[in-house]
Amino acid sequence: MNPVIDTILDHRSIRVFTNDPISKVQLDTIISAGIAASSSSLLQVNSIIRITDMEKRKALVELSGGQPYVEGAAEFLVFCIDFQRHHEMNPDVKAEYTELTLIGAIDAGIMAQNCLLAAESMGLGGVYIGGLRTHAQEVDDLLELPQHTAVLFGMCLGHPDQTPQQKPRLSPEVIVHENTYKPLDKNKIHEYDETMLQYYATRNSNQKQSSWSEQITSKLSQESRPHIKGYLNNKGLAIK
Ligand SMILES: Cc1cc2nc3c(=O)[nH]c(=O)nc-3n(C[C@H](O)[C@H](O)[C@H](O)COP(=O)(O)O)c2cc1C
Repeated sequence: MNPVIDTILDHRSIRVFTNDPISKVQLDTIISAGIAASSSSLLQVNSIIRITDMEKRKALVELSGGQPYVEGAAEFLVFCIDFQRHHEMNPDVKAEYTELTLIGAIDAGIMAQNCLLAAESMGLGGVYIGGLRTHAQEVDDLLELPQHTAVLFGMCLGHPDQTPQQKPRLSPEVIVHENTYKPLDKNKIHEYDETMLQYYATRNSNQKQSSWSEQITSKLSQESRPHIKGYLNNKGLAIK
């Protein structure tokens, strides 16, 4: 349709990278694209920490649950919610509201996706690393994050050294509702399960026999990083 749409629709996460660096011009463009994103009330409550210290990268591999691409990527960016700068501007700022933490998380996602799309538009690739929240406090300590600032996720970026198949998604019929919420059409989920079974069985890496329903049932029957509430509260966030 147009190059922007082509880039968006061609997305796939990249986890294997060549040793080639990302040029300064490319990195500056990626960061500028992130900063250009919409910002709730123009609060601009995010920081990006670029990790160039390879010892820190190695530590982050472990802290993200053993994800080697955190070290192998040309660039690794950590996206944070950041009300510290607002506090420094005015110590009376009230950042403890859950609404503001939601804003920080939403805006970080929007900023990061602009970065990833900018990278993908230049032939680069990447993957988000939510795994950083598994050891959020340790990551926080490593990066010396101040109060009112919390780690959200990381992003690996680099030159792709793999061409994974695209992962199928739920259809618009499932995702999009008109005017009111419509009941789930389980046939559509069944169809998607079949598609995902086929995808997992035939993709060129990490083949497995698993449907989407099985995967999400397994994921959602376990605890999901229950330490995060305490972590955020200790940082003065999501208290009220
Ligand atoms: C916020 C966020 C966190 C993610 N964290 C990880 C992660 O820690 N490790 C990883 O390998 N992939 C991670 N992913 C990538 C997803 O697994 C991936 O986007 C999803 O499986 C769909 O695959 P695709 O991006 O190739 O289409 C994350 C994605 C998002 C949006």
